[in-house]
Amino acid sequence: MAVYFSEEASVEAVTARVGTNVDPRLAQVMACLVKHLHAFAKECQLSQAEWETGIAFLTRAGQMCSEERQEFILLSDTLGFSMLVDAINNRRPAGATENTVLGPFHVSGAPIRQMGDNITLDGKGESCLYEGRVLDLDGNPIEAARIDVWSDNPDGFYDVQQPDVQPKWNNRGIFSTGPDGAYRFIGIKPVSYPIPNDGPVGQMLGHLGRHPYRPAHMHFIVTAAGYQKVMTHTFVGGDPYLDSDAVFGVKETLIAPFERVSNGSTLWRSPFDFVLTRS
Ligand code: BEZ
Ligand code: FE
Repeated sequence: MAVYFSEEASVEAVTARVGTNVDPRLAQVMACLVKHLHAFAKECQLSQAEWETGIAFLTRAGQMCSEERQEFILLSDTLGFSMLVDAINNRRPAGATENTVLGPFHVSGAPIRQMGDNITLDGKGESCLYEGRVLDLDGNPIEAARIDVWSDNPDGFYDVQQPDVQPKWNNRGIFSTGPDGAYRFIGIKPVSYPIPNDGPVGQMLGHLGRHPYRPAHMHFIVTAAGYQKVMTHTFVGGDPYLDSDAVFGVKETLIAPFERVSNGSTLWRSPFDFVLTRS
């Protein structure tokens, strides 16, 4: 029997249209999406004008997207959706290093560096020694772990945001651990910075009385054969934005010490061990 559309039967009317020869997972996800989307409109009693505002917002977000700019991921990040999907897909035992958002500024193919190298090519910023070990859950060192790192410069920009100002690969590099699982490199103590906020997502944050800042952090992707990939940051303890990160990326276990060094070759030292779980 045909299911005609009505306010009450709206979900059933839409899901009943799905064909029989359809990918079952697609059918499940779309049914769930329609159920919650319709419930959203019903709970808010969404007005026609509000629907039009939403469509105009999504249209502007789409128009903003390019090879360099992904406004929809930024929307997902600022609504806490990216962190939720990451949490669902990366449940780990206590003691394992937690994940956080990737962000738009990772670039594949950064230069492979030697342990101890300095990744800061413009000589700007407060130098910081990053060191620690890559370990398994039992505390054993992981050999041949690959550590891909990147951070902003002291003006709050990644190299890719300022291709005419910063040297290519500034504050980026890839390191590989030896049998002791240890890593060691020199970068800078990063600074807090605003996420790209010159588009509709920035406007949304403004309308919601939210600031666009992320607390200072160093990005890491740690991979090793036989272990789950860890995509994370270490955050600078004491940063004023730790409890209001625009993209909800902060986890307490990722707040790292940044110790002032006296008589060292760097101004700061940030020790942090990464603990990986088997895949
Ligand atoms: C970042 O940390 O690079 C970042 C993460 C999410 C949105 C924008 C930037
Ligand atoms: Fe970042």
